[in-house]
Amino acid sequence: MSRPFPDDPFLQGNYAPWPMEGEIHDLVVTGDIPAELNGTLYRNGSNPQFAPRGQYHWFDGDGMIHAFTLSAGKAHYRNRWVRTERFKLERRHGEALFAGLSDLSNTDERAQGVFPNAANTNIIFHAGRLLALWEGGPPYELDPPTLDTIGVYDFNGKLQGAMTAHPKVDPETGELLFFGYGPFPPYLRYTVVSADGDITRNEEIPLPVPTMMHDFIATREHVIFMVFPATLRPENLTSGSPVRWEPELGTRIGVMPRDGGSEDLVWFETDPCFVFHAMNAYTQGTTVSADVCQFRLLPLFQVDGEDLETNIPIFTRWSLDLTSHSITQAQRDDRLSEFPRLDERYTGLPYRKGYAAGQEGAVPPSEGLFNTVIGYDHANGRSQTHAFGPNSYSSEPIFVPRSAQSAEGEGFLLVGVYRKEENRSDLVILDAENIAHEPLATVHLPHRVPYGFHGNWVEGLSIE
Ligand SMILES: [Fe+2]
Repeated sequence: MSRPFPDDPFLQGNYAPWPMEGEIHDLVVTGDIPAELNGTLYRNGSNPQFAPRGQYHWFDGDGMIHAFTLSAGKAHYRNRWVRTERFKLERRHGEALFAGLSDLSNTDERAQGVFPNAANTNIIFHAGRLLALWEGGPPYELDPPTLDTIGVYDFNGKLQGAMTAHPKVDPETGELLFFGYGPFPPYLRYTVVSADGDITRNEEIPLPVPTMMHDFIATREHVIFMVFPATLRPENLTSGSPVRWEPELGTRIGVMPRDGGSEDLVWFETDPCFVFHAMNAYTQGTTVSADVCQFRLLPLFQVDGEDLETNIPIFTRWSLDLTSHSITQAQRDDRLSEFPRLDERYTGLPYRKGYAAGQEGAVPPSEGLFNTVIGYDHANGRSQTHAFGPNSYSSEPIFVPRSAQSAEGEGFLLVGVYRKEENRSDLVILDAENIAHEPLATVHLPHRVPYGFHGNWVEGLSIE
């Protein structure tokens, strides 16, 4: 018999894993799903199959995909775990075998030599392939209609090392840009994939110390690497957390011309801070503007004095002057905002509209992280907020344009919302230009979808 899950904040409430896989045809909908929505929202998140061996970390769980097809005004749902090597081995043995990020010393000998890729962080569609991503290793390819796992995808053997869960698609060239990091040299690599899926560039980026690097940013002209003092030293891989906070190292931001190489990197130095996610960046003249959700301290890794109630992510614009090599930081909001997104037809370009998950009033950490969606207008500094109501907790907002020709920001926001009183989830569809208004439609699930990480809309695809 499977062991019960322990009493851990990230295994309780709507963080708790959902143990079932299935399909629901033609969900109940309140309102009208816009006729323009014809595709599938794929989302990924951490959903452990078995009770952990030791202290659990939110990032440890097995990846579970939740997919919503919206088409002809109807909504259909399917969820599946990603069948990673880790998942299959643990299922065979009927228990957790791998150690977690809170303490790496605890891996069972039956898992020695098996890579712990959980494929739990993001899911993208590029060059005809649906890829579940995890920043410590290669992607897993999935079958888009069934969510069946096809296997590890290594770009025809050309992928070297790991691939971030936050690659960027250049909207003008269709290229997929990403980086990979790790605790052993080279600590950082930059990779370019052509629009048809072929790796065309692999570049090593020299770093003095290996660090955990969750996201990066690309503009039409530059790539930006964010090196925070969250180190990933090889000597910390055998016990305790592999990620340590070393604020004395400060923060270093590397800006590299897209048409240059690592020898052209310009480094900007600033105070210690941490960013999981950037909204976007763009280059104008000799300035790179980068919008990030910035923490004072590394969150979620047991840093002394850190807690999620005081160490909140603040939407901040960095201006990086390529002539003076100086950085200025301007806080753009005083509220919490995280899981930032944009109209991705403007990735890397001057842009006006951005979105994030936020909080209104106090959200007890045990209940969730967010209860609003914020829409930012960078042209006038204003924002709109949609609050989902009492005991309703939101997640990353995903923008879908009304049509390929629509103006920036004209379209819809898709947001998963957990309704605590009913212990189930909705998919809420907002008008992205009138975020504060009543939802256009709410798709009702009879069950809950645990708080996950990231997802993407894929136009024209549908689940079976
Ligand atoms: Fe992320």
